[in-house]
Amino acid sequence: MDDKSSGNENEERHRENLKQQQLDQYRKVNTGKPMTTNQGRKISEDQNQLKVGARGPSLHEDHHYFEKMTHFVKEEIPERVVHPRGYGAHGEFECYQSMKHVTKAGFLQEAGKKTPVFNRFSTVQGRRGSKDTARDMRCWGAKFYTEEGNYDLTTINNPVLINQDAMKFPDAMHAYFNNIRDDMPTATGAHDTFWDYVANNPESIHQTLWIMSDRGVVKNYRMMASWSINTYLFVNEEGKATFVRFVWKPVLGEHALLMDEAQKIGGIDPDFHRRDLREAIDCGAYPEYELGVQLIAMEDEFKYDFDPLDPAKFWPEEVVPVQLIGKLTLNKNVDNYFAETEQSAFSPGNVVPGIDFSNDPVLQGRLAAYLPAHYHRLGPNYQQLPINKPICPFHNNQRRGGNNFSIDVDKVWYHENSMANNTPYTTPPEKGGYEHYPEKVEGHKIRARSESFKDYFSQPRIFWNSMTAIEKQHLIEALSYQIGRVEREFVRQQAVNLLVNVDREMACIVADNVGVEHPSGTNVPVSTSYPSLSIFNTPYYAYTQKVGVLIGNGFNGKEVTNVLNYLQQCGVFIDIVSEKLGTVTGADGTKLKVDKTFLTTSPYLLDSLYVVGGSSLNQAKFNQDITNFVDHAYTHYKPIGVASLGQSYIQASEENNLAGVVFATSNPNFGKDFVSVIAQQRFWERK
Ligand code: HEM
Repeated sequence: MDDKSSGNENEERHRENLKQQQLDQYRKVNTGKPMTTNQGRKISEDQNQLKVGARGPSLHEDHHYFEKMTHFVKEEIPERVVHPRGYGAHGEFECYQSMKHVTKAGFLQEAGKKTPVFNRFSTVQGRRGSKDTARDMRCWGAKFYTEEGNYDLTTINNPVLINQDAMKFPDAMHAYFNNIRDDMPTATGAHDTFWDYVANNPESIHQTLWIMSDRGVVKNYRMMASWSINTYLFVNEEGKATFVRFVWKPVLGEHALLMDEAQKIGGIDPDFHRRDLREAIDCGAYPEYELGVQLIAMEDEFKYDFDPLDPAKFWPEEVVPVQLIGKLTLNKNVDNYFAETEQSAFSPGNVVPGIDFSNDPVLQGRLAAYLPAHYHRLGPNYQQLPINKPICPFHNNQRRGGNNFSIDVDKVWYHENSMANNTPYTTPPEKGGYEHYPEKVEGHKIRARSESFKDYFSQPRIFWNSMTAIEKQHLIEALSYQIGRVEREFVRQQAVNLLVNVDREMACIVADNVGVEHPSGTNVPVSTSYPSLSIFNTPYYAYTQKVGVLIGNGFNGKEVTNVLNYLQQCGVFIDIVSEKLGTVTGADGTKLKVDKTFLTTSPYLLDSLYVVGGSSLNQAKFNQDITNFVDHAYTHYKPIGVASLGQSYIQASEENNLAGVVFATSNPNFGKDFVSVIAQQRFWERK
């Protein structure tokens, strides 16, 4: 391994991490080694095919060429049918306290217990090469490599699903995907079939609203929450079960892009989210998330005004509190995207003793969807791939199938047997064998939806009612954009007719924006609101926010260096931006390395600006570039710090009330003031 990890701390952690130790056996270094064919035959020339003379023809006996080309044309594997665009990272989960009272899951038995975890974040709609910042849900597969086998926790960055029965999932996805006739549009639900589906399947309005909210345009993977949606069971040693839902809470809070930013960044840097994740981990700013659980006693199944088994309903935190049970730290990037991220495979069916399934009809249906998907993508021995392999031993009577990497030497491969003393043997539950919760069920075989699932609008109304005025405005903009892209007027009308069930005023504004009649329904008043539903009620930090330092030559070296040192101490990420790469020199000879130019970065990619200014050979162009960055940052409500030399670039005016702009001139506390506005992130009160 050339760059497995950096620093002693990393190396120590790596040594202790059982999954990393296992992966080490598969890591292979090719640098500095002789080139060979896949059979190990050394290669003497790798530039030209074998030919008769320099001008050909080529010869069939050139096996080296044949192998190289054949491997190349087979390099792709099928994409995931949903979630093809994703990015992965390794991490470690540490349990806060024993959860023994509710679950016997080994990785949750004692405080301080650490478990290696591989994570993959993804969008749903766009294909593998699509943009990261699409308005979509963000999904997260977390594979816990526990001593009792792999546990996969699959979550989505909103707590409700578009379907209430797995039977509907292929329909919802067909409507959401690119149209089958023309394969458009990519990575967006802003088209006829998606809104036609929503309008005709009213249970889908709830998740759709969440996707249209700020949570549909997450700022990055480090700052998003993610919910299991489905209801699982925790089962303890005594065999007592409890309903459980899981939620990841990002330590840095939940934050979003503006719709305009998400759309522009999709073009400027389609890799925006994966780059952010990779860079943060590379520089040691490890993303952290706390794992929360919401618990409902089995005997309270019918106590709430929502059905705990309905995946289109959230469990309000204010009603069913979230208990934080551990923390996940992402601390290692993958060494090989294909081998680790692309070949990773998650399934809600991968559980360990102590975690079981409720009768949630989406969860039950999901259990039949993932294995065939993995077999299609990766083959029947996909679990032998290094990234999917458990860290505990696994033995059974499965021996064959494509790409089997084990050589099972036993003669006997059936159960029960006498020839191998009835091994591999089964393990009784009291010794760790998995036992399904023996829930008593009875009833008639019918295809039906529970009556308790049929209130489609109460929670969407509460969701709307819990939004701040700014979030409501963003939601209206998103709905107007999405439904406005629908070509068929009757579909636009149907979509707006559905929205009236959430809020009449909102539906009428959208109707005006998309050129259809006001819907006829009346408003249903709602007084409940839950603070936890608003993304604005979240922690705010300056840590890892990216500031662009707009700078030329002749700057005040002492002033700027002091500020940059302070920003660095606070963990603010810094990009020095000037007209050319190289260095800029201050009036006192201070030199700063330029990271990006006005051309290679963009105000859309920066969270805040430090406007230093300075001199340039083409001063007019330089001034124009800075003014352009400042105007963009200002209109996107971003914090701006202004050095003494940069004051001419931004002044108060009728359109400009300077909220969130701090000046260094005559301000001995500039550094602190600047960091505090960076932490605040947006200044919505700007005119
Ligand atoms: C009926 C509902 C659902 C069905 C049929 C379904 C099916 C699928 C399928 C076929 C895949 C691709 C697997 C692969 O090729 O490796 C997938 C991926 C995924 N699903 Fe679902 N899904 C459903 C609902 C959900 C829900 C409710 C969640 C979480 C709350 C979820 C989370 C995920 C995640 C995180 C992935 C991506 C895994 C990865 O990164 O490889 N899905 N789903």
